[in-house]
Amino acid sequence: MDGLDETDLLKVRDEALRVFEAAEVHAGSDYFHMPNAKYYPSLFAWDSGFNAVAMSQIDAERSMRELETLFGRVAPDGHMPHEVLIDCEETRASLSRNLLRRMFRWAYDSNGASRMTDPPIYVFAAEQVYSGTRDAKWLAKIWPGIRRLLDYLIFERDLFDSGLVSIVHPWEAGTDLSPQILSALGIDPAKRADALKATFLVPLLCRHCDRLSWDLKSISAANRFIFEDLTMNSITIRALTSASRLANEAGDPAAAARYDERARAMASALDELLWDDEAGCYFPRFDLAAPRNVRVITAASVLPLFSGLCEPERAARMIEEHVLNPSEFWVDYLIPFNSHRQIAGFRPWSDKKLWAGHCIWANFNWMIAIGLWDHGREAEARKLAARTVEMVARAGFWEYYDSRTGEGRRMRDFTWPGLALDMVDRFFVRA
Ligand code: GLC
Repeated sequence: MDGLDETDLLKVRDEALRVFEAAEVHAGSDYFHMPNAKYYPSLFAWDSGFNAVAMSQIDAERSMRELETLFGRVAPDGHMPHEVLIDCEETRASLSRNLLRRMFRWAYDSNGASRMTDPPIYVFAAEQVYSGTRDAKWLAKIWPGIRRLLDYLIFERDLFDSGLVSIVHPWEAGTDLSPQILSALGIDPAKRADALKATFLVPLLCRHCDRLSWDLKSISAANRFIFEDLTMNSITIRALTSASRLANEAGDPAAAARYDERARAMASALDELLWDDEAGCYFPRFDLAAPRNVRVITAASVLPLFSGLCEPERAARMIEEHVLNPSEFWVDYLIPFNSHRQIAGFRPWSDKKLWAGHCIWANFNWMIAIGLWDHGREAEARKLAARTVEMVARAGFWEYYDSRTGEGRRMRDFTWPGLALDMVDRFFVRA
C-alpha cells in the first residue's frame, strides 16, 4: 500500500486492541470507552463518536453499543451532555481528576451530566457504523436521540440568530484553549503576562454560567463568551448531512429533506459570516453586542473542508494556501493544530495549555484527511494517513503529539489515535 508501512499498521492495530480494552466500561446497560482510564474516567460525548469509528474497525457490535449508550443520554430537551460522570468500578477516578472535578463542579447537574455540549461528530459516526452494519433495528433505537440533539443545536443554540450554532464555554468546541478561543477571551499566547488568565478564565466561565443556571437567555444577555466556533459548526453541517441520509434509511423522507435543507442553510451562513477572502480560510465570530471575527489561524480555520458542503473554489484555496503550505501546516510532522508560522511568536506557557501549543491531534488529522479526500486530494489524504500511522506506531497512543518531534504528550493510552485504522480502511482498502 502506497506509502504505508505494513509493520507500522500491525503495531497500531495491536495497540488499539490493548488501549480500547483498558478503556472499556460495562456499567449496567451502559457500554462505552473512556478516552483514557486514568485521567478521563467518564463518558465523553465526542470522544465516544471517535471511539465508535475506531472500534468499528475492530468490532462493529461494540461500536453500536457505544453509540446506543451515548444517544441514550440525550436529555428530553435535546441537550447532549459533553461528559457524563458514571460511577462504577472502571471509572473510579484518580485523585487529580477528583480535585479537578471539584474545581469544575459548576459544570455538572445533579446526575453528573455536564451542562455543556460538544461538536456532534457522533452523528457522522452513526452514519459510518450504520453503513457497515445496515442494522435497521439499531437505527430505530438511536434515531430519536439524533433528532432531538440536532433540533437543540439548530433551534436552541443559534444565539446570534444567524443560522449558526453558538457555544457558551470553550470546552463546547472540543478544542479547549485553542488560540482562537483565547483571543475571544482577550488572552494572547504571545504575551507572557497572559498565562495566568488562561489558567483561571475557564473555571471562572463555568462559575459564571452556573450562576446563571446555564440558562441560554441569561448567558446571552451577559455576553461574556458567545462564540460561533468552526469545529462545532463544520461538524454540525456534516452531522445534518449524515442525519439526512439516516432519515431516508429510517423511512422518514420528510426529515431527510429538512436536514438536507438545514445543512445547506448552515453552510451558507458559514460562508457568509465566517469566510475571510483575504486570508483564504474561515475565522470564528464572537460578541453578541458587536460581532467580530477572530483573525487567528488554527487547523479549525480549514475544518469546513470536512463539512461536506464546502465550495470547491474555497476548498482549493484552503488546501493550497494553508493545509499544503510548508510554512503553516504541511510540515515535518502532520498536521499541527497551530500553524507553524503563527506559533513561532507564542510564549512557552502556551505549550502547557491544551490545543494552544505545538500539538497534533489524531481527530483533526482524521477529519482533515477526509476533507482532502472529499475534495479530490487523494494522494495528500493518503500521505496524511500514512504519516499518522507512522507517528502513532512509533510513539504509541497519546492524547496528542508534539508537532516538532512527533513524540507523545500528556496522557498515554488515549483512544483517539485508533482513528488511524479508519483512515487506512477508508483511503487504502475501501477506496
Ligand atoms: C480534553 C479535550 C476534549 C476531550 C476531553 C476528553 O478536554 O480537549 O476535546 O473531549 O479532553 O478526552
